[in-house]
Amino acid sequence: MSITILGIESSCDDTSAAIVTDGILKSNVIASQSVHEEYGGVVPELASRAHQQNIVPVVDAAIKRAGITPHDISAIAFTRGPGLLGSLLVGTSFAKGLSLGLRIPIIDVNHLHGHVLSHFIRRNPDDVVPDYPFLTLLISGGNSQLILVQNYNDMEILGATIDDAAGEAFDKCAKVMGLPYPGGPHIDRLAAEGDATRFKFAKPRIPGLDYSFSGLKTSFLYTLRDAVKDDPDFINNNLNDLAASLQKTIIEILLAKLDLAVKQTGVKTVAIGGGVSANSGVRTAVADYCKKHHLNAFIPERSFTTDNAAMVAIAGYFKYLDKDFCSYDQVPYARVTI
Ligand code: KG4
Repeated sequence: MSITILGIESSCDDTSAAIVTDGILKSNVIASQSVHEEYGGVVPELASRAHQQNIVPVVDAAIKRAGITPHDISAIAFTRGPGLLGSLLVGTSFAKGLSLGLRIPIIDVNHLHGHVLSHFIRRNPDDVVPDYPFLTLLISGGNSQLILVQNYNDMEILGATIDDAAGEAFDKCAKVMGLPYPGGPHIDRLAAEGDATRFKFAKPRIPGLDYSFSGLKTSFLYTLRDAVKDDPDFINNNLNDLAASLQKTIIEILLAKLDLAVKQTGVKTVAIGGGVSANSGVRTAVADYCKKHHLNAFIPERSFTTDNAAMVAIAGYFKYLDKDFCSYDQVPYARVTI
């Protein structure tokens, strides 16, 4: 009998539902929330309310697009954390209610595990997935981590940011440039037409595999502050070069520690994940690095870099095979590591 998992993701500002049958993705529906744009960041209370509005139609659409009925679902996997508590409560409560109605088990998924396991989302049985062990560079708005993945449920954080995440570095510097939130995609777009060697920004010198991006942010801010004193239009006149130089610096910081981690672990496979892994420069740099060092590179489809329920469903599928279910008294958690 086939195993069909409904995945539900509601940890931040995307409501998503996906269907995975026998490890193959059948549907992945994402409703993004535009309500936050005018505030320059996610407003938790508004996010929870938008999830409440979206969750029923999104789950319904995922089931219909997969060509199944609710009674074909074997179990419901949901993101239990980390994330915004109000948002997580919507997905968790919905998963519990539906599972009681359908008399099927629930499976809790760590959102970060989901990002790491996004490389196991297959559209076709012959799609290639990573061999264990592999190294993941998880880079998003809230995380910058180097993770050694031994198995779907055995991951070790080798290094993490001690201050800002890579996505925050993109977003905060973009804000100083007057770009809309989130700034990462705008930097990516502007950088494509810019001279990346034009400006030099500070890089951290911290030992080991931890990251730091706050020094870069300060150095970027000071460069702009000093320049606009002489030329008030400096930022607007140099958007492309600023974006390209900033992106290049972030990539160099990311790659330096990735290289160290590859050498320390001796892994043969490197993967990237999280929102920042959508960045064109990061994708090319990691692919080139892996080619040069004869490593297998796993660069996710762009739709799987940001929050999505396909990764929750695939993580849930692996847990289902191990009968690793969740009890109804489990509640969401705002903070947790791997
Ligand atoms: O994983 P994600 O959707 O959720 C959070 O952890 O918040 O990541 C969002 C982050 C934001 O900082 C956004 O600016 C960044 O990913 N991002 C990008 C790109 N697309 C999204 N950063 C640089 N280049 C991009 N193309």
